[in-house]
Amino acid sequence: MEKRGCLMPMSGLDSVARSLVAAGKGILAADESAPTIEKRLKAVGVPSTEENRRAYRDLLFTTPGISEFVSGVILFDETIRQKSADGTPFPEVLSRQGILPGIKVDKGTRPLARFPEEKITEGLDGLGERLAEYRDRGARFAKWRAVISIGSGIPTRFCLKAHAHLLARYAALCQEAGLAPIVEPEVLMDGAHTIERCEEVTTETLSLVFSELLEHRVALEGMLLKPNMVLPGKECPKQAGVPEVAEATVRCLRRVVPPAVPGIVFLSGGQTAEQATEHLSAMNALGSPPWELSFSYGRALQDPVLKAWKGDSANISTAQGVFRHRARCNGAARYGKYTREMERSVA
Ligand code: 13P
Repeated sequence: MEKRGCLMPMSGLDSVARSLVAAGKGILAADESAPTIEKRLKAVGVPSTEENRRAYRDLLFTTPGISEFVSGVILFDETIRQKSADGTPFPEVLSRQGILPGIKVDKGTRPLARFPEEKITEGLDGLGERLAEYRDRGARFAKWRAVISIGSGIPTRFCLKAHAHLLARYAALCQEAGLAPIVEPEVLMDGAHTIERCEEVTTETLSLVFSELLEHRVALEGMLLKPNMVLPGKECPKQAGVPEVAEATVRCLRRVVPPAVPGIVFLSGGQTAEQATEHLSAMNALGSPPWELSFSYGRALQDPVLKAWKGDSANISTAQGVFRHRARCNGAARYGKYTREMERSVA
């Protein structure tokens, strides 16, 4: 039989992956690409200049006490090169607090040729060299996102296979470069599909992803999975209750995610901040899953912060209080202990 030594855990990466899902903590996704951060800032009346983007990320990363609930932060290429107001590079601002810096390394989505309505992720060309540079700049983990839409006749199996292959190629390159990969196949909430359809598509997606990861000799102990929760489409007339979402999501993951994976860090995907926290808490309350169930939220951690900040330096400490509050709520959700009552106590 062919030698499969590479499947052994790679030194250090398993401990990075485990630190990212340490008890009571999760990840802040602050890796919005230029067009996405522009949209988020515009929504609160702030022009997307380089200085405004820097000042906003500075606010997030210097929030007092945030390392109690945040284990890692995913940065964008521009952000990993930026500095705090006192001149400290952002990766160092984070690592001084014991927070692991991470980096988004995909180059966004493009239409999948010959497959109308489907998208594919770009960014493999030159990835090995980029990973080496990011590691030198302090990154310890990376992220690559695949976007999967549900609609009439989609996703096709071809599209899912193409994404699974890319995610596995990316993950293998990361592990060779000494970075722990976060593998993010996101089945979108857009559309009128049912929760059952989301479960079916998420199951098929993840089973193809893990089969490719093994083929590519990725050490599952040295990576994290970042999936969507199993939810009905936003336009579906039949929305689901919190227990239904929690049960469908955990059932789906139990069927396809090997227990060798140390943790599953959900994206929020357009849920409100409170919904994302409630769902995570309900899943953890179901009791001892084989992996840590945590968060890697972008919007669900940041939307209320942006609304409190609005680009005004006079609002920084209020906005930081809002961020700490959301992080604390999600920290409680890691133990299945979040309650709506907690929302009344914004620090
Ligand atoms: P959301 O939590 O806003 O979905 O963002 C997470 C993320 O990193 C998307 O790639």
